[in-house]
Amino acid sequence: MNCEFGSTSKGEKATLYTLRNKGGMEIAVTDYGAALVKVLVLDKDGKVQDVVLGYDNAEGYEKGGVYFGATVGRVANRIGGASFELNGSVYELTDNDNGNSLHGGRDYYNKRMWQAEKLNDQKVTFFLESPDGDQGYPGNTKISVAYELTDDNELKICYHGVSDADTLMNLTNHSYFNLSGHASGPVHEQEVFIAADAFTRADAQSIPTGEIVPVEGTPMDFREYKAIGKEIEANYEALILGQGYDHNWVLKGTGMRTVAGMRSKETGIVMEVLTDLPGMQFYTGNFLINEQGKEGSEYRRRHGACFETQYFPDAVHKEYFEGPVVKAGVSYDTVTAYRFCTEA
Ligand code: BGC
Repeated sequence: MNCEFGSTSKGEKATLYTLRNKGGMEIAVTDYGAALVKVLVLDKDGKVQDVVLGYDNAEGYEKGGVYFGATVGRVANRIGGASFELNGSVYELTDNDNGNSLHGGRDYYNKRMWQAEKLNDQKVTFFLESPDGDQGYPGNTKISVAYELTDDNELKICYHGVSDADTLMNLTNHSYFNLSGHASGPVHEQEVFIAADAFTRADAQSIPTGEIVPVEGTPMDFREYKAIGKEIEANYEALILGQGYDHNWVLKGTGMRTVAGMRSKETGIVMEVLTDLPGMQFYTGNFLINEQGKEGSEYRRRHGACFETQYFPDAVHKEYFEGPVVKAGVSYDTVTAYRFCTEA
């Protein structure tokens, strides 16, 4: 099912695409920003819960500055100093975050109209052409993001890109999840696990220092399920600098694997995060302030949590971080999936 989803200030009309699976799960995505708008899951009492924060129409997504459900690129998270060198040339990016580049600079992918192709009731693909010099990055780059809802309640997002010059690519999805329902308030009591023995230490501007710090004995340890709020206010450098959780975890293993989970006792909804990427930014909505959202809701600080799978932030400047450099003509392909189930 497709329906109108408002229009942008340029007069472009947006569409909302609804995908449904055999189990009754439903998601909705829009061509404006290739954003994830709704994720509807049945809770333990058989009630439908929408577990992602969002807006009612394209106008909301165009105005919003907090990346609800957004496809983020060309490079997610931060590049220190908003510039980098590749093959002897220096590329200048937009410094939109304390002199650094965040989520692609001001000309964001999530503020553009993508071309949509709905293949069937369970899959839609969005396409974007990002020209050479776009946001400061080299290479004419063709990008696609495919959302698929499988019959085993997995929302699978496949990212693909190919460029005609060596470039950087690091695409992610910035959905804020609240498994008690998008309008249910703070996520502090919901539990999270992250399959990581370490995280990347960052400075006061959230740029990694290059150090890999073990989580053992710190509030960053999510190797077992733990309430998000349990230690979030601890007197610990990373939490003070990030004003809560806003860090990159060094995910265990390689290849497609389960890297994180979240669960709400209130609704019984459990989400597993799977990816083939090496890192994940776990961000607890620390900078979310009075955002007017879907169906009259008002979202505040920590009303959602993001699981942004990625190459490590600022990898282009860190010799030992697996880099987001993609060679000309070579495909960039990564997959992240969010799998849902409900426990009694
Ligand atoms: C960043 C946060 C930032 C947020 C924007 C996250 O990926 O790590 O620092 O404030 O995105 O909503």
